[in-house]
This record gives sequence, structure tokens and C-alpha cells, in this order.
Amino acid sequence: MHLLNNMRAALACILLLGTAVVSAAAPKTMFLFKDVLQSNTTALTTSGFNTLLIFRIGLTDAGDLVYYSTGDAGEAVDAPVVSDGVYTGGSALSDKIRSFKTLPATLVDRVEVSLVSHDTTFQIIRDLVASEGTGPESTLYRNFAALRSAWSLDALNNDDEGVYDLASTVAFAQMLGGLGLKYTIAPYTNRAFWADALSRINTDSNSQLLDHVYLQVYDGGAGNDPASWKSALGGMKIAPVEWVVNDAKPYEGTSPDAARAEFAEWFAGGPSRGRGTGTTTTSRRWARRTPSTGTC
Ligand SMILES: *[C@@H]1O[C@H](CO)[C@@H](O)[C@H](O)[C@H]1NC(C)=O
Repeated sequence: MHLLNNMRAALACILLLGTAVVSAAAPKTMFLFKDVLQSNTTALTTSGFNTLLIFRIGLTDAGDLVYYSTGDAGEAVDAPVVSDGVYTGGSALSDKIRSFKTLPATLVDRVEVSLVSHDTTFQIIRDLVASEGTGPESTLYRNFAALRSAWSLDALNNDDEGVYDLASTVAFAQMLGGLGLKYTIAPYTNRAFWADALSRINTDSNSQLLDHVYLQVYDGGAGNDPASWKSALGGMKIAPVEWVVNDAKPYEGTSPDAARAEFAEWFAGGPSRGRGTGTTTTSRRWARRTPSTGTC
């Protein structure tokens, strides 16, 4: 389809998520695997996606934050961004990220960053929650407050694929909620964990804290049925995430047209199958530290 082909051409070096169904409320989300300082900002902000999801922030053992991404030639880009409660990532990076929502022609109104479990991130969060808690003096609170402020973030995305520690997941999400952030998840398996986490994260006092579910429907999640996830998650709308081939990694993933057909098929199931509005496609570039067969 026109839009997706354009997207593939323009945004070849990133992971894309986009909805096939246009709705004011629906997230149309794109994962940014490529270093945002090397991406085409015009394309990112004007192609029709309203949410950008920066892949990815990791934690050092001390709880400092590092931006791990991939450069134009596939090279590792490791940028320390927060240390001991202070933003250290430089203004070039923070200005770039803030510009996603402020450029005159931008369509983007939400920026998220992801945390991924093939780093030791969720183990470190678990251990820091246990040792320091999540109060205003804690390392986690101070460091994520600094990142939120420097990058003008709207949400953190949890892509835990292995640690699944319920207590620290809930405490961390609620800490982020206290910082004014939203929380999103990108599951591929372990529905019981995510249903439990969702029911504890969204409370009466912050019932929309966890507000988007990006369901992986590729690789390890290829068998996922969005409708059954929707019912397992209490009726939460589900945005399926496709991994779309691109010129940097043409041998893996689905084509934009095939992804589109898949969305159409899900959508044809209609509300009786419990489909959400957030049908989503992704495209990704080769990404360092991501298993070649793996989920992101
Ligand atoms: C960046 O994207 C815009 C919009 O798609 C396009 O017109 C422009 O040619 C791109 N620039 C580069 C250097 O690729």
C-alpha cells in the first residue's frame, strides 16, 4: 500500500509500527531502532505515525541510564544519558528527541522509550526496587525523572521477555505514573503475567497508567491471536506489532503488503472477535544485540 511503501523507503533503518485503522484515539506507533541522531527526522514526524517509540534505554548496575541504538552502518551507538539523577546525554540528543513533538509539521504527539530484557535491565530494576524502593530519593526515581524531563517523554515501554518479576514491575510502573508518565507493554508470551501486572498497575487512582498493549505477532509471538489476548487482558485494546522487511534487513520479516493483508483479516473478524482499533505494522532494521530469530 502506498503509505507503507513510502514508509519503507523513507524509514528503512527503523522499526515501524503503524495502524491500518485510522482513528483519532488509536496509537500509530513506530519503533525507532536507528540512532535518532542519524534518522530522517522529517520522515519520522510527517509520515502519519503519531507515536514514536525509541529503542532502547538500558540500566547499568548502578542504575545509570544508557541509550543503546544502532547507527547508519549497523554500528553500536551507546550513549550514556543519565547518571546519578543528572541528564548527561547532551543537548544535541535531547533537542532532537524534543523536536519530534514540536516541529511545525509534526504529526507526533507522544514519545516513548523501551526497556528490553535481553539487557539486564529488568534484573537491575528488580534489584534496585528491592534495595532502595521507588521513592523520590531512589536511584530509579531520580534517574527516570531526569530522562523524562530532558527528553520530554510521555511513556515507558516494557519489553520484558524473561524476568517477569511482578512486584518490581508493578512498583516501577507506579513510580513512572507518579512522574506523570504512561506505561506500555510489548508482550509476545506469558499472558498470565501480563494480565496480573495490568490488573495491579492500573488502579482506581490511575486507571489508565498502562494504556497501550503492543502485541508481538512475529517470531516467538507469531501464533498470537490479538482477540484472545484482548479477552485475557480484560478487554484492553491490542495493537498487533508486525516486523516488516526493509532494505537493511530484507531477508526477515513480512512485506508491507502482507502485513496489511494480515491486518485486514484480523479487522474483518470485527468486534465480535474482540479486535482493538490499534492494528499495527512494524519494520525493522538489523539491530545489534537482537537475536536474529528473536523478538525485539
Ligand atoms: C527525508 O524524508 C523526507 C520525507 O519523506 C524526504 O523528502 C527526504 O528526501 C528525506 N531526506 C533524506 C536525506 O533522505
